[in-house]
Amino acid sequence: MAANERNARITGLGMYVPPKVMTNQDFEKLVDTSDEWIVQMTGMKERHYIGEGEATSDLASRAADEALERAGVAPEDVQMILVATATPDMLFPSTACLTQTKIGAKNAFAFDICAGCSGFVYGTVIASQFIRAGTVDTALVIGAESLTRFTNMTDRGTCVLFGDAAGAAVFQACEPERGLVDHYIQSDGKLGDLLMCPAGGSKKPASHETVDANEHTIHMIGNKVYVNAVRMMSDSVVKVLDQQGLSGDDLDILFPHQANIRIITSVAERAGLPMDKVYVNIHKYGNTSAASIPLAMYEALEDGSLKEGMLAGTVAFGAGFTWGSTLMRW
Ligand SMILES: CC(C)(COP(=O)(O)OP(=O)(O)OC[C@H]1O[C@@H](n2cnc3c(N)ncnc32)[C@H](O)[C@@H]1OP(=O)(O)O)[C@@H](O)C(=O)NCCC(=O)NCCS
Repeated sequence: MAANERNARITGLGMYVPPKVMTNQDFEKLVDTSDEWIVQMTGMKERHYIGEGEATSDLASRAADEALERAGVAPEDVQMILVATATPDMLFPSTACLTQTKIGAKNAFAFDICAGCSGFVYGTVIASQFIRAGTVDTALVIGAESLTRFTNMTDRGTCVLFGDAAGAAVFQACEPERGLVDHYIQSDGKLGDLLMCPAGGSKKPASHETVDANEHTIHMIGNKVYVNAVRMMSDSVVKVLDQQGLSGDDLDILFPHQANIRIITSVAERAGLPMDKVYVNIHKYGNTSAASIPLAMYEALEDGSLKEGMLAGTVAFGAGFTWGSTLMRW
């Protein structure tokens, strides 16, 4: 296919969640909270926790192995690997390079995307642009997070929210009628202080003091993040549909980032979508950041909610702030 005649589509999905489960009842024993509060305020019931000795690249490589198998692609045929993560194995080398070695994709180039919970949306756009340009035929985009390694287990406002997981998608060149139809991505660093991990980087390197002050964990002003997430996610859905002259009626299924069920229902309402077009699995996994969208797509494909020919949307919002949406003809 000539470069200008081709598009990029997902040809295989994979997911991995570590076996350890933390329920709302487990949190009742740790902090002043209740199952009722967590379910009502977030929609979450349980989430998975990474095991001792495991790292983000371990989750990423398991999801990637499955995605490659399902796509029928050999690891050595992958040309590009993007790992979207806010919780890398270490500052460097990148988790993408570590994952590359674990899956044996020896012919690829690899790098991380740091776009918070919007990472998979950003990765979809980047990989698709490389494929459309004809530079790459096969790319692997992985959203992988070990958020619970960076969670303050004494802060009830954040500790109940996050889970660990990885979701992977193989993107390949396809005919122009399928695959990525359109996208909209945006960021605004002015609001970055509302959701961050303050220490461990060059601004505040690790020290005994930063560890004692829990500054290597997630710090979030939840209610301010919430308001922005609703506004920016709903605007993103409307915008990407509008770019194509479409409305909510034309969309068959939406995969929103799974941060809070109340955010998801507000986004659906503001974007003019009934909830039966919106995929939700937050009750099982909590907020898995960049992994949440590929996890939802994987499960939707498995349970038959996502079918060939559908117009599927994704939408996310995350630390940065970053946000964005995609439309794909499945
Ligand atoms: C965290 C979140 C669920 C809290 O809901 P909220 O409606 O904003 O509630 P607030 O933060 O205003 O807190 C309301 C009260 O609940 C309390 N509370 C917070 N966490 C609690 C918990 N786990 N259990 C019980 N009470 C809790 C607060 O202390 C506060 O109590 P107060 O009124 O006595 O001060 C919500 O803000 C949220 O989901 N934010 C977005 C998070 C997110 O998506 N982050 C990642 C972006 S991708």
